[in-house]
Amino acid sequence: MEKTARLIVDGKEYEFPLIEGTEGERGIDISTLRARTGYLALDETYANTGICRSSITFIDGEKGILRYRGIPIEELAAKSTFVESAYLVIHGRLPSEKELGDFSELLNKSSLLHEDLQHFFIGFPNNAHPMALLSTIVASLSQFYPVPENFSPEIENQFIANLISQTRTIAAFSYKKSIGEPFVYPSYKYRFTQNFLNMMFSSPVRGYEHDPDIIRALELFLILHLDHEQNCSTSTVRMVGSSGANIYSSISAAICALWGPLHGGANQAVVADLERFVREKTDIRKMMDEVKSKKRKLMGFGHRVYKNRDPRAIILKEACNKIVNKPGYTDPLFDVASQIEEIALTDDYFISRRLYPNVDFYSGLVLRAINIPVNMFTVLFAIGRMPGWLAQWKEMSDNPNKKISRPRQIYTGRTINHYVPMSARK
Ligand code: SDX
Repeated sequence: MEKTARLIVDGKEYEFPLIEGTEGERGIDISTLRARTGYLALDETYANTGICRSSITFIDGEKGILRYRGIPIEELAAKSTFVESAYLVIHGRLPSEKELGDFSELLNKSSLLHEDLQHFFIGFPNNAHPMALLSTIVASLSQFYPVPENFSPEIENQFIANLISQTRTIAAFSYKKSIGEPFVYPSYKYRFTQNFLNMMFSSPVRGYEHDPDIIRALELFLILHLDHEQNCSTSTVRMVGSSGANIYSSISAAICALWGPLHGGANQAVVADLERFVREKTDIRKMMDEVKSKKRKLMGFGHRVYKNRDPRAIILKEACNKIVNKPGYTDPLFDVASQIEEIALTDDYFISRRLYPNVDFYSGLVLRAINIPVNMFTVLFAIGRMPGWLAQWKEMSDNPNKKISRPRQIYTGRTINHYVPMSARK
């Protein structure tokens, strides 16, 4: 590979170093572009811009590959647990049995919320969206668990555990608040995923039957959402964290970014669409024609990076298949989803635009099978993505050359202008 890229501008030639990642991703390092040429590079929405070097997650959008620390998502989905994969993503390697036990224990010990935080839940209206509670309460955690200026690895591990574990508690408490039931506290008797389900669905007068298939389906959902390199919410963590804002504020900002319907909010939008199609007996072929004439978007389809099948969607569809074929379970939404996918995979409009189902297309159907309410879907996405956000924040924070992120712009407004007194204005 050449070592440099040559740029000729205003009749002058400049050379910029070429860089190549371990998986062959190639880039032009233009960090000296403006200082040497006086020009900016414009790349609105950063589709062609790398904001960092990272060794956490590798995606090959052309081949539909996703690996956490080099391990294919298919292997982790089949063999790992959410807590083990979270350790892998954060610490860069699979844990020993003792390390995994200690991490799991730390998560359990860190699952309680400060009792004064209950006032936040009381202060919100009953019908408040749980993402609003999550982003608000996570931001407030810095006042209950202050982050010192300089912290030891032990303190860092503690607030990482706080965020992974307390996000789950906040989510369950938000649900209980919305249905007017008393909070169910986390229990040392259960491990991560089971604890969440118990906090969500048991009550002082009603036990919760822990179905291993349901626990496994939720583990799978969480593993598949763990990290996804520099997506909108993750690059938000890096951007906010680069100013030196505390970890809780940086994560709260990411939660807000994830809430958008073009990002993590899509899983809720997909199920709302599918529910409407079933309720209104929509003609799916006609609806797909409306998509092709750009009258509507097909939520859960398309991806900025994957221009092939999203490997997570393939795994989630298999999980859906397993669940809907369980005796006594049916979900008409799954049949409609399969019909939509079938049409899209054979229609040139979608094929030519490389529009495939993404992680959000089937994820909501798995959550429905677990009886998670639709307005909690994006919160579940946030619980899954939390270790990824934390790993990316840690990688940014540990970088000895870290600097505040500050993109530039091309100004297109009015040239020099002057103040006009009110009496002289038209
Ligand atoms: C997530 O980045 C990540 O990694 C995110 C994520 C993660 O794990 O963090 O993977 C999670 O956010 C998944 C994406 C969830 N969002 C949705 O499902 C919302 C619906 N999808 C679209 O809004 C869209 O596909 C995006 C935003 C996801 C990606 O948009 P792009 O890559 O910028 O594509 P584009 O807007 O440039 O569209 C290219 C063409 C256009 O048609 P033409 O102008 O070429 O004729 O494809 C069309 C678009 O109109 N198109 C769609 C479409 N997505 C793109 N047409 C119909 N329905 C869609 N969903």
